[in-house]
Amino acid sequence: MDGMMSDPFREDVLKGLSNPQKSLPSRWLYDARGSELFDDITELPEYYPTRTELKILRERAPEMAEAIGPEAVIVEYGAGSLLKVRILLDALENPAAFVPVDISASHLEAAADELKADYPGLAIKPIASDFMASNLGEGLPEAKGRRAGFFPGSTVGNLSDAEILRFLSNARADLGDGACFIVGLDQPKSPDVLVPAYDDAQGVTAAFNKNLLTRINRELGGDFDVDSFEHEARWNADESRIEMHLKSLKPQSVTIAGERFDFEAGETIHTENSRKIALDLFAQMAEKAGWRLTRRWMDEDELFAVLMLEAV
Ligand code: AVI
Repeated sequence: MDGMMSDPFREDVLKGLSNPQKSLPSRWLYDARGSELFDDITELPEYYPTRTELKILRERAPEMAEAIGPEAVIVEYGAGSLLKVRILLDALENPAAFVPVDISASHLEAAADELKADYPGLAIKPIASDFMASNLGEGLPEAKGRRAGFFPGSTVGNLSDAEILRFLSNARADLGDGACFIVGLDQPKSPDVLVPAYDDAQGVTAAFNKNLLTRINRELGGDFDVDSFEHEARWNADESRIEMHLKSLKPQSVTIAGERFDFEAGETIHTENSRKIALDLFAQMAEKAGWRLTRRWMDEDELFAVLMLEAV
C-alpha cells in the first residue's frame, strides 16, 4: 500500500471528492489561516453566536459556578483561545484545576501560558488531543470538588448524531460519576438571521470556506482554480442545519495527488453542517450518553442556549 495513504487529510479529501455529492469534513477548515479567519468570523456583525454566548456567560456565570460547586476540575474540549473559560473561572469558588484539550499543541501551550500568568494559584494541565478522539481518563487531576466539562461555541452542532453520541459518551466516561457538563448550543431560528450569519457582507466566511481549496492545493499538490468556486450558505429546513458549500462556477477538472475530479457547472462540495438543535432533541441525545439536562441559560431573544448536563 502507498505509504502516503496514512495521511488522514489526503484520505478524507480523495474519498470525499469521490462521493456523488462531493464533500469534505469540516475539521479540515482549521489550518493556521482557517483558524485566523474563524476568529474574524466571531467578531462579524452578522455572526450572533459568539457575542450572544459571551453575554449569557457574563451574566449567568455566578449561577453556573454555584451549580458546579467549589474546588472543581474544569475540562474544556476543543479549547482554542480560552477567552470564555476565564468568565467561568472568575466566578468559581476555588477551582482546583483547569484542563484545556485541543488538537493544536502550539496554540494550546501559548493560550495555557497566558492563562497561567493570570491565574497563578490554578493547576493548568493542557492535553494536546483531538477532542473527538479523547480518552482522557487517567490524565485528569484528582480534586475534592467535582469534574465539570466545558464545551462552548456550539461546536456540537458541527457533529453528526453518531459523533455527538460518541463525544458525549467519551466525556461521560472521562469525567466520571458526579460530573457535570456545560455545553453551548445555538438554537433554531429564521433563515433570515441564519443565512447572513454564514454568508457575511464582508466575505470573511467565504474566505474561510475557500481557504480549504487553498489548503488542498498547498498540502496535497492540488490545482484548484480557487476563483472559479463560490461560497454558498444554505438553510436545510428538514435537517435544521446551515450547510456550507463551494460551488463550481463552470465545468472543470481538478487534479489532486495525481487523481482527477470532474465538476459540472453549479456542482458543489459540501464542506460543513452547522446544526441548530432544539433543546428537547439535544436532551434526548444527551440522555443516551448518560447525561441529564438540568439547567438552561438563554439570552432574551432565545438565540443561543448554555446548558448544564449532570451525569446520571
Ligand atoms: C465552530 N462552529 C461552531 C462554527 C459554526 O457556527 O458552526 C463554524 C463556522 N462556520 C462558519 N461560520 C462559523
